[in-house]
Amino acid sequence: MTVLAWSDELAVGHDAMDRTHQQFVELLNTMGAAQGEAILASVDAFIAHTEAHFAQEEAWMDEFQFPRAGCHRAEHHNVLEVAKEVRRRVVDGGTQYARTLAEALAEWFVVHASSMDVMLAIFMEHGADALPECSHEGSESCPNSGKHEADRSAAP
Ligand SMILES: [Fe+2]
Ligand SMILES: [Fe+2]
Repeated sequence: MTVLAWSDELAVGHDAMDRTHQQFVELLNTMGAAQGEAILASVDAFIAHTEAHFAQEEAWMDEFQFPRAGCHRAEHHNVLEVAKEVRRRVVDGGTQYARTLAEALAEWFVVHASSMDVMLAIFMEHGADALPECSHEGSESCPNSGKHEADRSAAP
């Protein structure tokens, strides 16, 4: 059973990013369905792909001087930390955690792609004026949350 089906609703409108995201969804499903010896290999394949996926987005953030890179990088970092912890548990015999990780990241990805990744895609295609309001105000993992607080208190 798949943990996430690719659909056009997940597309961010940037061809290279969407291709990577389709592969991400495939690897997530492979990890969610893997059995026995294949589990650790599926986690390793997922981590390797995800490191490259996130590194590419972060390189774009640097190249285009994306102004909201802090929240976005922090989410990437946290996901990789969790995935590596799951890998350690799988090695120790907790193979069921691979499925749990796939299910959790399926939920995470739908939100991340439709907010942070789509904002990066819009910024690269159309520049800063096209960006909507940041949707991550108040998030404790967001290093800009202090700024959001300041924005709110300064609002009329
Ligand atoms: Fe992404
Ligand atoms: Fe991202």
